[in-house]
Amino acid sequence: MQIAVPKEIKNHEYRVALTPTGARELVGRGHTVTVQAGAGEGAGFADAAYEAAGARLEADVAKVWDAAELILKVKEPQAEEVARLKTGQTLFTYLHLAAEASLTRGLMESGATCIAYETVTDRQGGLPLLAPMSTVAGRMAIQAGAHSLEKAQGGSGVLLPGVPGVAPAKVAVIGGGVVGENAARMALGLGAEVTVLDKSIPRLETLDDRYQGRMKTVFSTADAIDEAVRECDLIVGAVLIPGAAAPKLITREMLAEMKPGSVLVDVAIDQGGCFETSRATTHTDPTYIVDGVVHYCVANMPGAVARTSTQALTNATMPFVTALADKGWKQALADDAHFAAGLNVHEGQVTYKAVAEAFGLEYVEPAKLLK
Ligand SMILES: NC(=O)c1ccc[n+]([C@@H]2O[C@H](COP(=O)([O-])OP(=O)(O)OC[C@H]3O[C@@H](n4cnc5c(N)ncnc54)[C@H](O)[C@@H]3O)[C@@H](O)[C@H]2O)c1
Repeated sequence: MQIAVPKEIKNHEYRVALTPTGARELVGRGHTVTVQAGAGEGAGFADAAYEAAGARLEADVAKVWDAAELILKVKEPQAEEVARLKTGQTLFTYLHLAAEASLTRGLMESGATCIAYETVTDRQGGLPLLAPMSTVAGRMAIQAGAHSLEKAQGGSGVLLPGVPGVAPAKVAVIGGGVVGENAARMALGLGAEVTVLDKSIPRLETLDDRYQGRMKTVFSTADAIDEAVRECDLIVGAVLIPGAAAPKLITREMLAEMKPGSVLVDVAIDQGGCFETSRATTHTDPTYIVDGVVHYCVANMPGAVARTSTQALTNATMPFVTALADKGWKQALADDAHFAAGLNVHEGQVTYKAVAEAFGLEYVEPAKLLK
């Protein structure tokens, strides 16, 4: 199969969808891998390493896309990339369509088959291709939050761990999944006072068990969120309703209850954000202030630690990539219902229920297309 790896073009996105190790694996299985020149540079993978692995290097972006049957990316395609997609091509990448009406339309019009990393499932009910990046983003959320609490960033001037004689900061994490647990774990490690709110009792039980009461676990209700808003120095938004837009759990009026200079880190911004006042920011200009509250809402947080993120992501995607390359999308998805859950758009049809519902579009079951 002809496989293409374009260079990512989203602001400050340095990850790449395939490492030289991955390229060697695919070439060894008889596939042709074309890597856009410079695609791996930001993650510390030189062009020469891809060449040594047997991949072809191509400087012309149009040629990279045009000849491909399977396109491997990291972030959702930007407008100029959507324009390059065509019928017969398979795109495998993060898509996050439920928050992106125009991207959904664009992909439908392209005629391509679009498989989203973030909706592929596993036997344990997890999201195996979201988890590695959620781990990274969760860990980064506390670094970002701690930095945003500094005065120069508009923060309240609170140091997360406090010092002897001065109480530590209070951190609330809303959503105790992969992002939330990793954020809470980092905040605990720094010595903050940590509360995790979740709607899932089994999840709260797991956290309580794992951390032996060192973090407070609270069932997520409007009252519990009100209390966190009044008391906390830093709140991390880490909720997810798979494939759907994030619920708005903190409204603009509630910001008035927060201490001046408190910080909201909305990791769920890639699903539209879970705070009413959130809007996506970039690593160039990651924060803004609304009613005295600092907001950090970078939609591609793991891009900033591209080396770690690329390795973590490709470790997880590689088995799926080899299945797509070896069998083609139809057989690969037909053989694995969890992989089939990744199909979001195929030749103009929306094949992921939550995306269809978000935009009032007709939903076509993937199983129908795989017969
Ligand atoms: N900004 C970034 O760079 C970045 C990177 C990775 C992941 N993310 C996003 O972070 C979010 C969380 O991802 P995850 O992997 O941790 O998901 P997850 O499924 O592991 O966890 C989500 C948790 O939210 C909980 N939840 C749902 N509704 C809730 C509510 N009303 N109150 C409290 N908890 C609630 C669920 O029970 C679940 O435990 C997703 O939107 C994901 O796309 C963003």
